[in-house]
Amino acid sequence: MRSSELFKEALELFPLGVNSPVRYYSPEPVMFAQGHGSKILDVNGKEYIDYSLGFGPMILGHANPDVSNHIKSQVDKGILFGSISENEIKLGKTIKNAVGSIERLRFTNSGTEATMHAIRLARGFTGKKYIVKMEGGYHGAHDYALIKSGSGTMTFGVPSSAGVPEEVSRTVLVGRYNDAESIEKLFKEHRNEIAAVITEPVLGNIGVINPENDFLNSLREITEKYSSLLIFDEVITGFRFGFKGYQDIAGIKPDLTTMGKIIGGGAPVGMFGGREDIMAHVAPQGDVYEAGTFSGNPLTMAAGIATLDQLKSKDYSAITNYAARLEEKLNSLISEYNIDATINRCHSMFQIFFNKNKVTDYKGATASDTEKFNKMFHTLLEKGIFFPPSQFETEFVSFAHSETDLESTVDAFSSVLKCL
Ligand SMILES: Cc1ncc(COP(=O)(O)O)c(C=O)c1O
Repeated sequence: MRSSELFKEALELFPLGVNSPVRYYSPEPVMFAQGHGSKILDVNGKEYIDYSLGFGPMILGHANPDVSNHIKSQVDKGILFGSISENEIKLGKTIKNAVGSIERLRFTNSGTEATMHAIRLARGFTGKKYIVKMEGGYHGAHDYALIKSGSGTMTFGVPSSAGVPEEVSRTVLVGRYNDAESIEKLFKEHRNEIAAVITEPVLGNIGVINPENDFLNSLREITEKYSSLLIFDEVITGFRFGFKGYQDIAGIKPDLTTMGKIIGGGAPVGMFGGREDIMAHVAPQGDVYEAGTFSGNPLTMAAGIATLDQLKSKDYSAITNYAARLEEKLNSLISEYNIDATINRCHSMFQIFFNKNKVTDYKGATASDTEKFNKMFHTLLEKGIFFPPSQFETEFVSFAHSETDLESTVDAFSSVLKCL
C-alpha cells in the first residue's frame, strides 16, 4: 500500500514520521492527499468524512472554491513583500469589527506565537511576573504554556515537556477550569504579582469542556479585582460559533484575545489583540518586542479574507444543528448498547468521552477510557470516518457536511458501538 510505503520514508525524516505530535497514531497514520468539501482522500484513493478539519480551521470544508481562487490570485501577484500590505488591513478590519474587545491587533504565524506574545505583553504591560493557566488548557508549544500542575501542595506549575526550565515553569500557576475558587486562591497567595489569567473560554484540547457556574464571569471579576489582565485564547473558538468570538456569546470583554485557525482559512496564522492602551506597548510603538518575517503575509491574509467574507453571511445554526442531531443520535446508540460514554458539545464542536460521569474538567476528562476511544477511532477510520486521533482533541463540523454525511456517520457509529 502506497500510504505505508510513504510513511516508511517519513520515518527516516521526521521524529516518529510526523511534523506535529498528535498526527502520529499507531500502527501508522493515514497519508492524506486531497480534500474536497467534507471529505479527505488518502493516497490509496479511499475517502473519509472529515471531522478533524485540520484541527479546526477548515470550517468551510476543504478546497473551498472561493478561498482557493483568492489564494491563486495572490500567488500571481507575489506572496511576500516584507512591508504592510492591503490584505492585512482588510482582514484586520474584519476581525476588529466583528469582535468587540479587539481595538488593536497584530498578526502572527501560529496560535503558539499569538499566546506567547500575548503573555509577554501582559507581563510587560503590568510589570508583574506570574501567569495563571488552567489545568488541561492548551495554548501552543512554547515554554510559557507547556506547564502542568504540580503536586497537590504546590501552586507553581511544572514543565509538561523536557527542556522547559524550571525557572520558567515557576512563573506559571495552574488553576482548575470551572472552579473559580481555585483561581481566587492563587490570587490571594500571589497578591499583586499575577500579570494575567489565560484560558480558552471553552476548553478544546482536553476534549470539549463547556464553561459552567458563571466561571468566565468570575474570571473577569477576579482579574479586575486584582488589577490583572484576562486573556481569552480563542484560537479554536474564534469565528467557530458565529461571526464573532465566544466572548461575544458569553458577553464578557477580555483585555486581550488570541486567535488562529479559522481566521487564516487553513493557511498558517495567529493573532493577538485587545485594548488599545495595552496593545500600545507592542514594538515599535512600545517596549514589548514581537516580530515575524511571515506575519500578516499576503497569502495567508488572502485565505483569511475569503474565509471570513463567506462566514459573514453564513447561518451558523446549520452546523450547530448538524452537531446537535449527531449528538442526539449517538446518545440513543450509547443507551441502546449500554455503553459508559458521555458526549460534550459546544455548538458545532463535540467530543465523546468513554466515561459514565459528566465531564466538566481535566480530572474528569483524563479519567475516561482512552483505550475504548482508540478502538472507536480505528474502527471509524476503517469505515471512512476521520476523527482527530486523540480523546483529548475535538471533533468539528463544517458548512460542507451534508445530510448524507450525517447518516453515514451514524451508521458507522452503530457498528463501532456494537463492537465496543
Ligand atoms: C486554544 C489553542 N491555543 C493555541 C494553539 C496553538 O496554535 P498553533 O497550533 O497554530 O500554534 C492551539 C492549537 O491547537 C489551540 O487549540
